[in-house]
Amino acid sequence: MKDAWGRTIEYVRLSLTDACNFCCPYCRPAEITPQSQTQILSVDEWMTVLGAFHHVGVKAVRLTGGEPLLYPYLEELLARIKKIGWFEDLSMTTNGSLLAQRAAKLKELGLNRVNISLDSLDSDAFALCVGKANQLDSVLNGIHSAIDAGFTSVKINTVLSRHWTDDEVRSLLQYVETWPVIWRFIEYMPFQGDAFHGPTFDEWKAQLERVSGGILTENHSVYGFGPATYYNLPSGKEIGCIFSMSHSYCDTCNRVRLTSDGQMRLCLLRDDESDLVSLVRRGLSETELASHIEWALQRKQERHDGVTMDQPERPMWRIGG
Ligand code: GTP
Ligand code: 5AD
Ligand code: SF4
Repeated sequence: MKDAWGRTIEYVRLSLTDACNFCCPYCRPAEITPQSQTQILSVDEWMTVLGAFHHVGVKAVRLTGGEPLLYPYLEELLARIKKIGWFEDLSMTTNGSLLAQRAAKLKELGLNRVNISLDSLDSDAFALCVGKANQLDSVLNGIHSAIDAGFTSVKINTVLSRHWTDDEVRSLLQYVETWPVIWRFIEYMPFQGDAFHGPTFDEWKAQLERVSGGILTENHSVYGFGPATYYNLPSGKEIGCIFSMSHSYCDTCNRVRLTSDGQMRLCLLRDDESDLVSLVRRGLSETELASHIEWALQRKQERHDGVTMDQPERPMWRIGG
């Protein structure tokens, strides 16, 4: 499916629920309780929506949240998607804290890849990162179970912090070198109407090169369908970087999003949505829905107006990244 700017849209990010057991300050303010979730779609409803996206040529689906492991019918949904065999790639972005017991089963049900957020390796700092004490071990267990389960890739998402000391960067590097994961460093996006306070990619690169004593070189690898650029560390180990503040990914945008209340969202950074779930509930067939999706997609704008959204109608935790 092509949008009005000639871009091929082949990747859909599905937010299964906006419930989350963490409150990362850059995503979900602490006053939001785990229960304050909007409606969720049933497995049948998601399958109709996915059927329509398959119809228009979507190849890759990523499950997000909030926290997708809190969607009560996750295993049933995966089993149905696997049975139907529509998509080349099925992946999930999770905070990892509830993954340990379920990783092997999810892999068996056809999930190919998982991306797990991990913003610090220090237990006290991690508590501040996720708004909850004593969670680091559960996330590390989740990561290790994902590695053991044999997913095609396990990626770690780390949002860059201005507060990292050289020692912290050194210990992060030690982990990056040790674990069989693809580690990505992400520029913080001021999504809550707050000011940008993270380091830019160039500032982080300078710190990394100082600490590692070598040069970071872009290597043009592609893993998955997302916006990351990959680099070799001086040791040869790869890392990915997603720098939404210093760079615009609009030219190569290949995706749309579906929110947990059934809206097709055309851009992460624009409150521009189209109500799909109402059409599903009115009984439209997959092909009718597919025509509607193609029509609605023509409203996708060429680019966003800037990452700082003063008052986003839909905050990050209700979009899924
Ligand atoms: P793969 O590369 O396929 O593994 O996935 P991904 O990187 O697209 O997914 P993930 O959910 O791990 O997202 C990583 C980061 O990329 C998050 O901070 C997202 O908010 C960000 N991201 C994903 N899509 C976009 C986008 O369209 N624009 C911008 N600016 N950031 C995005
Ligand atoms: N800026 C950058 N990345 C963010 N994420 C959530 N909020 C932000 C933000 N404001 C990341 C999470 C997760 C992914 C879905 O998006 O760390 O890995
Ligand atoms: Fe939850 Fe992920 Fe947002 Fe953190 S970043 S509050 S884990 S949805």
